[in-house]
Amino acid sequence: MKRQEAPSVAQRRVFIRTFGCQMNEYDSRRMLESLRPEYTPVSAPEDADLIILNTCSVREKAEVKVYSLAGRLKHLKRRRPDLIIAVCGCVAQQEGQRLVERMPHIDIVLGPQGIYRLREALAKVRAGEGPVVDTDIRDDFCLPSALSPEVKAVKAFVTIMQGCNNYCSYCVVPYVRGPEISRRPGEILAEIRALVSQGVREVTLLGQNVNSYGKRQPGFPTFAQLLERVAQIDGLWRLRFTTSHPKDLSPELMRAFVEIPILCEHLHLPVQSGSDRILAAMNRGYRREDYLKKVERLRELVPEIALTTDIIVGFPGEREEDFQATLDLLKEVEFDEIFSFKYSDRPFARARSFPDKVPEEVKEERLATVHNLQLEISRRRYRRLVGQEVEVLVEGRGKSDPRQWTGRTRQNTVVNFYGGQDLTGKLVKVLVEEACQHSVRGRLVGTLH
Ligand code: 5AD
Ligand code: SF4
Repeated sequence: MKRQEAPSVAQRRVFIRTFGCQMNEYDSRRMLESLRPEYTPVSAPEDADLIILNTCSVREKAEVKVYSLAGRLKHLKRRRPDLIIAVCGCVAQQEGQRLVERMPHIDIVLGPQGIYRLREALAKVRAGEGPVVDTDIRDDFCLPSALSPEVKAVKAFVTIMQGCNNYCSYCVVPYVRGPEISRRPGEILAEIRALVSQGVREVTLLGQNVNSYGKRQPGFPTFAQLLERVAQIDGLWRLRFTTSHPKDLSPELMRAFVEIPILCEHLHLPVQSGSDRILAAMNRGYRREDYLKKVERLRELVPEIALTTDIIVGFPGEREEDFQATLDLLKEVEFDEIFSFKYSDRPFARARSFPDKVPEEVKEERLATVHNLQLEISRRRYRRLVGQEVEVLVEGRGKSDPRQWTGRTRQNTVVNFYGGQDLTGKLVKVLVEEACQHSVRGRLVGTLH
């Protein structure tokens, strides 16, 4: 007999827009989970009773986008004064009270720690005690347990540590996300087990500098030990992590790629620049040679490993020869993909007061040069896959062509392919037939799992 559903509280609707990094995606999932069962997610802001913008301030461009979107929400609020608008994450932390002063239609401002107190903030706003600005950062902050995560996708992110203690001179993160704090291993394992029980097959562990996981908390495992424990979880097929700081990439972690079968052969290792002078000014804590040696060692151990990186062009004082050193490094390493950015001044970051700022036109030009060089390198690397059979974890239907399926290889290469039915969540073999700019295309040749 069908059980009668208990009458639910009046359903409220929430719209969330996430900017920036994977950690923000994680935080957004946690916010939605904390709002259940009262709120159900909707896909248009016009349909929502609560609108959340989870923001990023790592580069100026991201911040400008947030202000423009938040501004555009004003007319919705005018039409429906009971609509609640929350700005969360890094811009919220950075701007705090200023946000509600500039935009009185905003009801809630929560920093990256404050978002875990969203329900309290909502209660205050409903009691007429708004606007609420919660940008407290505590050194001993613990993420609350995620006992009932809800993920319908094949892959999920899990934050294992928050904040950063590195203070790279261009970076706002240590100021908006606070000091580095690792989550307890038991919490992490419980969350991943719960995700796997919902059908998640691939997990990416997140932290600003995963190599220093547990170092400040007595009794915690090292990051490599944590990977081993996660890898024991039944039903988890693939494991990844990001981000690894080159200065802390240890031999132990390199060996994990050999010793842990489900750890995928891909490492994101942000180099930022190929010039020692610029690396020192950035306070990165390694030299070009150190970086190259680590890459060499890693490739000796795991020849098939895919490497990706981040590059900043036009850091203050970057001369033509420094930029050339970056181009040379890109040619030498041959990354699979890179993420390149024009330097922008960020609040609190030391480099904002550095002399010799690089003119905007020069930054544009350098960015285009880096971009074109890497397109050629990536294409060359992808062409090597043509004619090979690769293992793909299928994430769903293709975005540009819904007749195709899309997924990734263990090296994180996007593969679009034709053939087969109901493949979402399956591990399949695909014969690669064509290399595209940021992906490859092929056809299904078999199902593994
Ligand atoms: N300007 C440009 N790029 C930046 N990044 C971080 N801060 C800045 C900045 N001020 C880039 C770095 C980092 C990535 C997440 O964003 O390359 O690795
Ligand atoms: Fe920013 Fe450097 Fe920390 Fe990365 S390691 S978040 S670039 S300060």
